[in-house]
Formats: sequence, C-alpha cells, structure tokens
Amino acid sequence: MSDPRDGGTTPLILAVESSCDETAAAVLRGPREVLSDVVASQVALHAEYGGVVPELACRAHAEAIVPVVEKALADAGVGLGELDAVAVTQGPGLVGALLVGLSFAKAVAWSRGLPLVPVNHLEAHLAAAFLEEAVPTPFVGLVVSGGHTALYLCTRRGEYRLLGQTLDDAAGEAFDKVAKLLGLGYPGGVVIDRLAREGDPSRFAFPRPMLRSGNLDFSFSGLKTSLRTHSESYLKGLEPQELADTCAAFQEAVVDTLVTKTLQALAHTGAACVVACGGVACNSRLREGLRTMAAAAGCHLVIPRPRYCTDNAVMVASAGSHRFLAGVRAGSDLNAVPTWPLEGLGG
Ligand code: KG4
Ligand code: ZN
Repeated sequence: MSDPRDGGTTPLILAVESSCDETAAAVLRGPREVLSDVVASQVALHAEYGGVVPELACRAHAEAIVPVVEKALADAGVGLGELDAVAVTQGPGLVGALLVGLSFAKAVAWSRGLPLVPVNHLEAHLAAAFLEEAVPTPFVGLVVSGGHTALYLCTRRGEYRLLGQTLDDAAGEAFDKVAKLLGLGYPGGVVIDRLAREGDPSRFAFPRPMLRSGNLDFSFSGLKTSLRTHSESYLKGLEPQELADTCAAFQEAVVDTLVTKTLQALAHTGAACVVACGGVACNSRLREGLRTMAAAAGCHLVIPRPRYCTDNAVMVASAGSHRFLAGVRAGSDLNAVPTWPLEGLGG
C-alpha cells in the first residue's frame, strides 16, 4: 500500500500490457521507482510470417500472462495484498491480444477488491518519459512505433491535441517493410539501424515525403515504393556496401522527416519541450538527430531509455499511476478498444 505519510502520492501499481506482440507486467512505486519489469516477447513466433499474426499473438499471450505477472510480483517482492491498483492497457491494439491482458487484470483486481485503472497504449508510450524525469508541460509528443506515427501537443498530463499523423504507414512499419524487401528479416528497425552505421547516407537520395506540405501529417508509403524501385534496379542484388548505404540513406530520409516535422510542431505550438517515444525512438540516428535539433532550437528533450521505448508494462504503470491519482477507475464491464484516439482522453 502507499505510505499515508507521503499523502498517498506513491501508489504501488501492478500493470499489464498485451496490446500487440509483447506480454508484459511491471510493478511501479510512485512516479519512477521501478520494482520489476518483465517482458515476454513473441518476436521469434511472428518472424517467419514477417509481421504479427493476430491469432498466434492471442494464444501466446494466454500462455504467457500467468507466469509473466507472477514473475513481476516475485521480482518486486510484492504480494497482491500490498498493491494499490491494477493498471491495464485497454487499447488501441489487437482486440484478441488486448482481451487477454484485460480479462486477467480484471480477475486479479476483482478477486482482491483492487481498483482497476484503464490505460491508453499511446498515452503509456508518452508516459515512459515521466519514468526518466518530471517532464514539464506543455510539450510536443512524437509517438513513433510499429503501429503509430503522430505528433501531439500535451498541454498537461492527460490532455492531448493531435497535431498530425501518418496518412498511410507508420514509421516502424516502413522500417519493417523495407527490411523485409531487403531480405533483412523481421522486425527490421534494429537491423537497419545497425547496418546504417556502416553506410553513407548521402550516396542515394530518397524522398522526404510531405516535408513542405504546410501541415504536420506524415506519409511513408511513397518512400517504401521508391526503395523497392531502387533495390530492383540492382539486378544482381545489393553488394554489402550498397546495402549498408541503402539502409543509411533510407534511415536518413525517415529521420529527417520526423525531426523536421517535430521542429515545425514546436514552432507551431510555441512549446519548449519535446518527448519522443515508441519503438522507433530506439533508433540511434533519430535520437542523435532530435538531440541536435533540440540543442539548436534551445528546447528541452526527453527520450526514454530504449527499454522503455519498445512495448513494456512499466510505461503502462507510469500512465496508470497518474490516472489512479486522478481518480480514474474502470468497472467490471471494461472492454477492449482496438481504435482509441488520444484526444479527449480525460483523466
Ligand atoms: O513501440 P513498439 O515496440 O510496438 C508498437 O507499439 O508498435 O514498436 C515496434 C517498432 C517496430 O516497427 C520496430 O522495427 C521499431 O519499433 N524499432 C526500430 C528500432 N527498434 C525498434 N526502428 C528503428 N530503429 C530501431 N533501432
Ligand atoms: Zn507500442
């Protein structure tokens, strides 16, 4: 239980995440004391299909959920009776996958008479930044993952305005599709990041879509097509150095687009702080590009450590902890929400 001496501001939260292909559970005390962080990844399961297969994800979540939560509690040295609340990802995500975590969290909360706190997965990605520090608001939030690419203005925690989003592929999806096209396996972001370090980003020129569109939306499908045309022009396949240069040039086009649009969002909103999060925020070149941009613009930048950028339950606990203190509670009729925009979240 939270210590009444500190005014109840350090709740002990168990969080569960199962929106896509990671089954995760974590225990967090207060805003950033991580007591445990368990992630069971299904990457190997989906690799041979080149993407997440919803039915397989659902079954794997059902198999993993009990041991993952048990390990999170054991690692934290915490019993269910000591918790203040259970937080769970309600959406957006794959409906069958979400339902596994949701049903389990509901059962735990109901059996122990604990409050159940619903969490939006996108807010959880942004909340990962609060694990690093008390982020000042307003801030511009760049969410870049396998399923989402969007810019938000966060006026205060829980209040978000969508500034722009991808009109087609998410940035992570573009990394994954391009990696598949180049025969680099799945998921492709990490591999492209690694190969790009040996490459020359200026050797090939790929388009920077919608950079001067006058709005803050993104589009990555044209870039993917241009990469296909480029790689097909090498009839005998790409030599190792050509492959590395291709990866570097593709990555540079994505990073340039993300960094430029983030800078435009800062100018548009007048905010002086940026949060970058989601799996693609692990990308070394994006982290470097955002750091350079923030230093030049004189703005504060927070990028969670890579472990908290990819899907995990600590970020769900971070968002859940804040929503718990704001009084947000779910009833036993809580259902999965596969499409759930961040705007108008409340709480
Ligand atoms: O946030 P996340 O774990 O799951 C979703 O909510 O989608 O993001 C996964 C995405 C994948 O598309 C993966 O290729 C990408 O993040 N990713 C990266 C890197 N690490 C993960 N993309 C570029 N560079 C990386 N280092
Ligand atoms: Zn995610």
